[in-house]
Amino acid sequence: MSKTVLILSSSPRRGGNSDLLCDQFMLGAKEAGNKAEKIFLRDKKINYCVGCEACQGNVGNCVQQDDMTEILEKMITADVVVMATPVYFYTMDLGWCA
Ligand SMILES: Cc1cc2nc3c(=O)[nH]c(=O)nc-3n(C[C@H](O)[C@H](O)[C@H](O)COP(=O)(O)O)c2cc1C
Repeated sequence: MSKTVLILSSSPRRGGNSDLLCDQFMLGAKEAGNKAEKIFLRDKKINYCVGCEACQGNVGNCVQQDDMTEILEKMITADVVVMATPVYFYTMDLGWCA
């Protein structure tokens, strides 16, 4: 059965190593009959958490108006979420944050 695959590419380097792996994964997923989409996170506006805790109270979700709203919606509805990050300075890359 066809699945919905969401691929999050977090490297700041478009066409770099992990982004290329994302493209290959997407190709394979599509060839296997699935619906696949890649999001290159550097293109998106994603603010840092400000620790307001609205998401934990009765608001229930983030109060910030940024592209994360749409990305979260896609993550919730996807059957498969793929996250790709290079290691920069011993940790996952967060270079895409605003
Ligand atoms: C600024 C910078 C820091 C890096 N730090 C590490 C590291 O701490 N450990 C490691 O194994 N590789 C490190 N690397 C190598 C990258 O993880 C590796 O080249 C990766 O494939 C780059 O992926 P990208 O092309 O998707 O950005 C670093 C590369 C860069 C550019």
